[in-house]
Amino acid sequence: MTKRVVVTGGAGFIGSHVADLYLARGYEVTVLDNLSSGKRQNVPEGATFVQEDVRAPAARELLAGGGFTVLNHQAAQMDVRVSVRDPGFDADVNLRGLLNLLEGAREGGVRQVVFASSGGVVYGESDKLPHPESAPKLPVSPYGVSKLASEYYLAQYAILYGIGVRAMRYANVYGPRQNPHGEAGVVAIFGSRLRQGKAITVYGDGSQTRDYVFVGDVARANVLATEAPAPVPQALDDAAVNVGTARETSVAALAQTMMQAVGRTVPIETAPARAGELRRSAVAVEKAARVLGWRPEVELAEGLRRTYEWLSSVEAA
Ligand SMILES: NC(=O)c1ccc[n+]([C@@H]2O[C@H](COP(=O)([O-])OP(=O)(O)OC[C@H]3O[C@@H](n4cnc5c(N)ncnc54)[C@H](O)[C@@H]3O)[C@@H](O)[C@H]2O)c1
Repeated sequence: MTKRVVVTGGAGFIGSHVADLYLARGYEVTVLDNLSSGKRQNVPEGATFVQEDVRAPAARELLAGGGFTVLNHQAAQMDVRVSVRDPGFDADVNLRGLLNLLEGAREGGVRQVVFASSGGVVYGESDKLPHPESAPKLPVSPYGVSKLASEYYLAQYAILYGIGVRAMRYANVYGPRQNPHGEAGVVAIFGSRLRQGKAITVYGDGSQTRDYVFVGDVARANVLATEAPAPVPQALDDAAVNVGTARETSVAALAQTMMQAVGRTVPIETAPARAGELRRSAVAVEKAARVLGWRPEVELAEGLRRTYEWLSSVEAA
């Protein structure tokens, strides 16, 4: 039987890589995206494209009537600062949108839902790193709350309707087609500065850390999560899987690694630290290895080189 999947946000950064990989694995792919930040040219050839908002009745109808087996939900309001400025909008897209899709999925007999959550925002600030899935949750932004609340809704659908659910708690995802506003936007920003031969700005003392995971690895985790059995959750974290590298990289080290990887050097300038940023972040990935057979494969230097090559090709075009 052909596996039929809807990828929401498939015109965006991560969703387009997920859609690519599903196609390569023989899935029939429909991309649903309103192009609010995504681009039509990111939608892979071979996918059916539906330009719709996740909150629209048409999105629900697509899932209810389309004969799909899988929903892979990547579309989101994903800007932390927008969520702080307008928490109602964040909740509208991320929660009302999710429920609209889930109701359609339930009506249409979808068997598996894979959801893009965020390991960078659902856990609280702590020095006990990397965070396992069971670490205390304390989002500090409305965006983090909407991701965590989404996970609770997913668990409900698993319990009430027997739908398999997986919440993929991504670390900071970087790679070709990335969006400078995303959680690893710093990679795109540094890359552009390097290309232009301009100084890189590091906020604070440069020691703040993140866990950078390459988008190709993230797409592979999504496909594995689609195919692995999903148990009915007894607790929220049962459905969750971290997707990262478990390694902390400081902003200063990121800048150095990128310069070495692409063979270019620019000055580093410092600016005052920005308020409201987590100091450190990294996610443990033993569970992904255990339940999905997934491990990150692309080393940071190699991933940064590939991202820089892509940036160079689009900025030159
Ligand atoms: N980039 C990261 O480091 C990161 C980290 C953790 C979690 N995530 C999550 O991964 C997912 C994908 O993020 P991304 O970095 O690819 O972002 P992105 O902005 O490149 O992609 C999001 C896509 O969703 C679409 N979209 C937004 N609102 C929509 C709506 N109302 N209806 C239909 N489509 C809509 C956009 O047009 C875009 O194509 C998001 O759910 C995000 O929260 C990303």
